[in-house]
Amino acid sequence: MNAPVKKAVLPVAGLGTRFLPATKAMAKEMLPIVDKPLIQYAIEEAREAGIEDFALVTGRGKTIMEDHFDHAVELEQVLSERGKTAELEIVHEAMVPPGHMAYARQQKPLGLGHAIWCARQFVAGAPFAVLLPDDLVKAEPGCLSQMMAAYDEVGGNIVAVEDVPREQTNKYGILDVEMDDGRLAKARGLVEKPDPADAPSTLSIIGRYILQPQVFEHLDRHEKGAGGEIQLTDAMAKTLGDVPFHGLRFQGKRFDCGSKSGFIEANVAFALDRHDIGAEVRAALADYFKT
Ligand code: G1P
Repeated sequence: MNAPVKKAVLPVAGLGTRFLPATKAMAKEMLPIVDKPLIQYAIEEAREAGIEDFALVTGRGKTIMEDHFDHAVELEQVLSERGKTAELEIVHEAMVPPGHMAYARQQKPLGLGHAIWCARQFVAGAPFAVLLPDDLVKAEPGCLSQMMAAYDEVGGNIVAVEDVPREQTNKYGILDVEMDDGRLAKARGLVEKPDPADAPSTLSIIGRYILQPQVFEHLDRHEKGAGGEIQLTDAMAKTLGDVPFHGLRFQGKRFDCGSKSGFIEANVAFALDRHDIGAEVRAALADYFKT
C-alpha cells in the first residue's frame, strides 16, 4: 500500500504584480472568486481529498492569510449577538483546527522549487501534496481527490495535467511521455517551460502535485533551472527512475487565476453555478450581450 498523503504545501509568497493595484496591500491569494478567497478554495479541495495538515509558504505582506484561517473574535461575537447563524457558519468554515496550519517564510523569491524546499521541516519525510492556489479547478470530485484515487493505483509522484496549445508550452512544466492510456500518462522526462519547437509533448503540469519526499534530495542542492530559478520540475525530473511519475488528466475545468482573463472567467463560471445568484448573473450577461 502507498503511504497515505495527509500533508499539503501551498506556496503563497508571490507578489501578484499582475493584479496591481488590487494586490498592493493585499495578498493575491485573497482575491475572491464570487465571495471566497482563492486560498480557501485550495484548502477546501485539499481537505476533501483527506489532507489534514497544511503549510503555507509565505512572504512579506501575507499575514492576512493567518488571520483568515483563525478566529475573528469580534466579528463572531457580533454575528452571534445578531442571530446571524448562516454567516457565523461561513466564518467558521474558513477555519483550520488549531495546530494543523503551519507557516514557513520564503525569504527570497528563488523559485517554486525553493518555496517547496522552505517547507521541508513540515513535510519531514512523508509524501505530500502541493497546491498552487492560482490554479483553480472546478471539478467534482475535486482535482486532488481524483489524484488521490490515481495515487492508490500507481503510487509515486503524480501531477495533474492537461493538453495546451503548442504555442503555450513555454508557460508550463511539460511531460515527455513514455506510455499513455488516455487518463494516466507515464513520464520518462520533464522539462520546465520549453520553447514550443523543443517541447517533448503538449501535456502540461497544472498546479496540483502528489510528491514523494525524495524530491528534497534534489531541492537541497539549490540548482537553478529555467529563468534562473530553482524549479520544482527539475527536482521532480531527477527522481525519475527512482520514483514512478504519472500525469493525471483530471476531469474538470482549470482556471488560470494568475491571469486577469482567467480570473474573470472563473468568477463568471462559479457565479453561474450558484443557486443564490446564478440566474441573476445569467440574465445580466444575456442582457449585456444583446445586440
Ligand atoms: C509553475 C511550475 C510549472 C507549472 C505551473 C502550473 O509555473 O513551475 O511547471 O506548469 O506552475 O501553473 P509558474 O506558473 O509558477 O510560472
